[in-house]
Amino acid sequence: AKTVTRGEDGVVSVGGLEVTRLAEEFGTPAYFLDEADFRARCRAWAEAFGEDADVFYAGKAFLSRAVVRWLHEEGLNLDVCSGGELTCALDAGMPPENIAFHGNNKSPEEIERAVRAGVGRIVLDSFQEIVRVAHIARSLGRRQRVLIRVTVGVEAHTHEFIATAHEDQKFGIPLAGGQAAEAVRRALGLEALELIGIHSHIGSQIFDTSGFEVAAHRVIGLLKEIRDEHGVELPEIDLGGGLGIAYTPDDDPREPRHIAKALSEIVVRECEAAGLRAPRLSVEPGRAIVGPTAFTLYEVGTIKPLEGLRTYVSVDGGMSDNIRTALYDAEYSVALVSRASDAPPMLSRVVGKHCESGDIVVKDAFLPADLAPGDLIAVPATGAYCRSMASNYNHALRPPVVAVADGSARVIVRRETEEDLLRLDVG
Ligand code: LLP
Repeated sequence: AKTVTRGEDGVVSVGGLEVTRLAEEFGTPAYFLDEADFRARCRAWAEAFGEDADVFYAGKAFLSRAVVRWLHEEGLNLDVCSGGELTCALDAGMPPENIAFHGNNKSPEEIERAVRAGVGRIVLDSFQEIVRVAHIARSLGRRQRVLIRVTVGVEAHTHEFIATAHEDQKFGIPLAGGQAAEAVRRALGLEALELIGIHSHIGSQIFDTSGFEVAAHRVIGLLKEIRDEHGVELPEIDLGGGLGIAYTPDDDPREPRHIAKALSEIVVRECEAAGLRAPRLSVEPGRAIVGPTAFTLYEVGTIKPLEGLRTYVSVDGGMSDNIRTALYDAEYSVALVSRASDAPPMLSRVVGKHCESGDIVVKDAFLPADLAPGDLIAVPATGAYCRSMASNYNHALRPPVVAVADGSARVIVRRETEEDLLRLDVG
């Protein structure tokens, strides 16, 4: 569905619009998001999982009101993990029953808002939260549908900071030592909770479905224990998100239909073996939907060749619009997009304008040796966890998100202004 092309003059277009024009109109740095690609990915996920499963887009990857509307139009549900994300979702018209509320320390105020709004499910993350949500639901005269998030002891093959299913971490309740079984026991004993299933999220930027197989095996083991002990078959299992995308040409992600087939088969097989009715499956892809749909456009400011090392190319953004390289040692690619060049490749490091040497956007990349200030360069695959993790470090103004569709472009999140920053500064 991608609509990125390069003209004879070397100028790259997205959705039929030249980046040089986009830079003039919207300034740099800016994120350009291909709406058709976003919608196509939503549809691919929805179709791959079909009628027997639910796809919850993970809003933490990138959320805005336009995104919420697109999701709803394309038949997806939404996972939120804060009061702010919940407000955005409701404000943009996501039906509350299509919202899942996550988080390891939801405040009582956030829980109350979610219950009052009528969110479809709250994912319980601790023993305290089981009691807290039950108490709030009871006081509002509601019965809240909940899942319990468990850790299955799977360590996804990814960067340590974003691997979340091994036991030594803050999320979920360990299966180990019967803790998850005890959590289920307590939740089943609370009238104000309707326990509908078990949730597991094993990590992020995962390419291989084998981690999910182990997770499903263990979660279904718990479902069997629950059936044996309580005589209840919980109707749902949520295997979380974490499917990887291509940041560089070396990455080789799986198609949604491949993932859907693999996960559904595992669930069916494991349930048959355990003598259980197969529960309804849900998944929570964030990155895999929005990641590939956007790129960041930067203008080159200074170029500093370091003899025998590499050339430092400074752009007008940096770690404030993409923290992932500094934080996770993430890999990105980059290309000159405002003109053609047949100059030889030059080993480059794309860096930002922040007061920190770790302010790197692209660690090692080849850019043409005739690169000059004023050139536009683009970093692809910045749709996920870039704008949503952007900061105001050095009083940087967070860049806009511009949606490109059918040959037109419109701002869906505007660029911050210095007035925006000063408005918060009330000292
Ligand atoms: N569901 C749950 C419960 C999660 O915790 C997450 C991500 C997702 C779904 C969506 O995962 P995805 O499909 O987007 O990988 N900031 C990091 C990623 C943190 C992910 C946290 N949880 C990064 O930039 O790589």
